[in-house]
Amino acid sequence: MASDRSERPGKATVRKFVEMKRRGEPITVLTAYDFLFSRILGEEGVDILLVGDSLAQVALGYETTLPVTLDEMLHHARAVRRGAPDAFIVVDLPFLTYQVSPEDALRNAGRVMKEAGVQAVKLEGGDEKTCETVRALVQAGIPVMGHLGLRPQSVHALGGYRVQGRGKGEAERMREEAEALQAAGCFSLVLELVPASLAGAVSEALEIPTIGIGAGPRCDGQVLVLPDALGLNGGFTPRFLKRFADLEEEVRAAVRRYIEEVRERTYPGPEHSFEEGER
Ligand code: KIV
Repeated sequence: MASDRSERPGKATVRKFVEMKRRGEPITVLTAYDFLFSRILGEEGVDILLVGDSLAQVALGYETTLPVTLDEMLHHARAVRRGAPDAFIVVDLPFLTYQVSPEDALRNAGRVMKEAGVQAVKLEGGDEKTCETVRALVQAGIPVMGHLGLRPQSVHALGGYRVQGRGKGEAERMREEAEALQAAGCFSLVLELVPASLAGAVSEALEIPTIGIGAGPRCDGQVLVLPDALGLNGGFTPRFLKRFADLEEEVRAAVRRYIEEVRERTYPGPEHSFEEGER
């Protein structure tokens, strides 16, 4: 009998996350962009590693997420997969790799699945055209995570990084788009910068889990951008962000110590050096 390798204990599938929601178990998601950090996140048991297109900003130094290319996303996604071979990994489809046509989206999402060996892709938006694209990907066997609220790829159209879904009309549209994405086949939905009451209502209305960032405690899971959560991203201090460490200060202190010891010739010491015949 052929065994389904994806169902081995420890290997997550999309079904796991819907079941976690049913059981009321919060889903943990963190972004990952490289081998070393994804190894740590995988070994510590983060439920989903997201290779977010936020890598444009936090790993590549761009102002927005718009410039990052599919090839750059793939380069990082492969490193994340090598670091966390058993993790459930989702990769963001970057700007203009899925908006032109469902065929284009299928080709690009297919590259992500084949070349990075991950389990799912994420895309932003919930209008009819986006839902058509979601249907095409899901029909081809590609799991899709949706993304509503603040959609960073549309930052110029939205007029900045602002809370979305304020006011009756906008809130109603978000509810409808969330339902439409679920009907189109999304297995989960990111809600970014959404009033907590609206995010809670959307979460209760859906069977698929919502993953919040700046969307309050009633989402089914939470996601943070890893360098922000670790305190590595200097001046970025939005209200929703909790810093779980202050690594920037730790790193600065270590670098200062290294400079000092090399300049004083106290590093390397004899314990860090080799003599003839020593191994
Ligand atoms: O790109 C990203 O990191 C994201 C998260 C903020 C959800 O989309």
